[in-house]
Amino acid sequence: MPGKFMVTTPIYYSNAPAHLGHTYTSMACDVLARWHRLRGDDVFYLTGLDEHGGNIEKVAKASGTSPQEWCDRIASEDIAFFRELGITNDDFIRTTEERHRIATEAFWKAVASRQAPDGKPNIYKGEYTGWYCAKCEAYFAEGELEAGNCPIHGTPAEKLKEETYFFHLSGYQGELDRLFEGELAKPAEERFVYPETRFNEVRGILREGLRDISISRTKVGWGFPVPGDPNHVIYVWFDALINYLTGAGYPGKGERWGHWDSVIHVMAKEIIRFHALLWPAMLMAAGIPLPRKVVVHGWWTVEGDKMSKSKGNVVDPREFSREFSLDSVRYFLLREIEFGVDGDFSRKRFIERYNSDLANDFGNLVHRTISMAFRYLEGRVKRPASSPWEGEFIKRWEGRASRVREAAKAESLTFTQAAFITLANDGLALPQFQQALADIWELVGSANKFLDTEAPWKKEKDEQERILGQVLEVLEAASWPLLVFIPDAAMKLRAQLGLTDVLPPGPVKRASLPEIFTLTAGDPLFPRIDTKKPAK
Ligand code: MSP
Repeated sequence: MPGKFMVTTPIYYSNAPAHLGHTYTSMACDVLARWHRLRGDDVFYLTGLDEHGGNIEKVAKASGTSPQEWCDRIASEDIAFFRELGITNDDFIRTTEERHRIATEAFWKAVASRQAPDGKPNIYKGEYTGWYCAKCEAYFAEGELEAGNCPIHGTPAEKLKEETYFFHLSGYQGELDRLFEGELAKPAEERFVYPETRFNEVRGILREGLRDISISRTKVGWGFPVPGDPNHVIYVWFDALINYLTGAGYPGKGERWGHWDSVIHVMAKEIIRFHALLWPAMLMAAGIPLPRKVVVHGWWTVEGDKMSKSKGNVVDPREFSREFSLDSVRYFLLREIEFGVDGDFSRKRFIERYNSDLANDFGNLVHRTISMAFRYLEGRVKRPASSPWEGEFIKRWEGRASRVREAAKAESLTFTQAAFITLANDGLALPQFQQALADIWELVGSANKFLDTEAPWKKEKDEQERILGQVLEVLEAASWPLLVFIPDAAMKLRAQLGLTDVLPPGPVKRASLPEIFTLTAGDPLFPRIDTKKPAK
């Protein structure tokens, strides 16, 4: 049933331009957005920039510009960056925008006018003393520090005292305990926080007990003033989280608001406590429904090292995209690691995976099948009357076969088409991108073996047509979910198969299968990378 689907990336800090790490989150969200569009859902993919706070004030000053000029520059660079990387976000929010000021002010007032479940005010003024990490823009309790350093950045935390407004987070302890307890009854993959390790991590934080959190600053100038008290600026995290509501049209309840209930927030592990604890409590405090799911992934390192400007090892994925193709960057990032765990990006692994999965298993299968179809059958191949792929599918995933049959019936698809859709759907529902791709490749791999065993080059014309027709059938079915992972190659493949029906990410229409595939010869989709040649 088509429905609404909203997905968000964190809004990235505009103190530095986006890099590989941000690309990973944005590509993961992009695959989900494209998949839901392909399935007919009304999709709203929101991303953007977090432009307030002391860090941005500092970098702007150091570069001799105003914070706004600095943010404008980074925003135009980042928008170009994500556009080149094929990210199909529907909106790009910047927290310095007027719509966000309106939403933040309305949200603050809504929270301030209500009480926490323990009857105390949600927001109150007080004094804060704590250990502050300027990079996190967050306070830590003494016990959370590691040898006096921030547990995330490893840099010294500073003891600060300031007048501040507090959000009464501890008043939501009971509500959050109940929320997470209640989730235990669900299968791990359906819980509020995914994957399970992260769900357990959040429960661990909850068990330690929540403390009220400081949500305003007097020492920072770059931010929205607290309504009614302009000596204070709203704390950057409180301001930033509200971006998700601003994107959905808050405080107005326009067309986009209909997406809110379906929202999935995707991010890396370091900002989980903000999204899985603070944010739900803020929403409860404002009387707004909670997001559907908080989905958390790991960190990418580069050649074994943490990416950092000072080490000079920050990867710009556009360089790989220009050298090898955008599809191969998308494929590598989503296929290389299980979603949720840390991963390492290296040129060597990139090339290995490119050559084995894209050039060899997939590209070569396409190329040799179409070449043979021209050599033996003048590029016209009858679609097979019966297909071996049902048997191949059942051999591997017997438990899913009845669902595939139902999907085939409901959507008037062939078994093979429904099989690929089910494999992609099962992986992406979690989401587990690696799983979805591994399953798709497994079935495509069986077509490779089929071609080798059946050896059409030794057969008569009728047999050649049967064998090649069956491989083309699998390629057509695979190309459909591949439109979301490797869109350029999947489009080219469909064009080579004589199917010029879809234009993702726009309105998607699937042509009915022809009786005869009328092929167009094309260049290899993923030419092999010659590792002997010196790197460019
Ligand atoms: N501005 C906050 C988020 C506010 S959301 C309401 C922030 N910004 S950030 O620029 O530091 O972005 C962090 C996010 O970027 C991570 O959670 C992740 O999505 C992505 N990544 C940045 N570097 C990364 C890696 N090295 N590896 C994986 N993802 C990374 O936090």
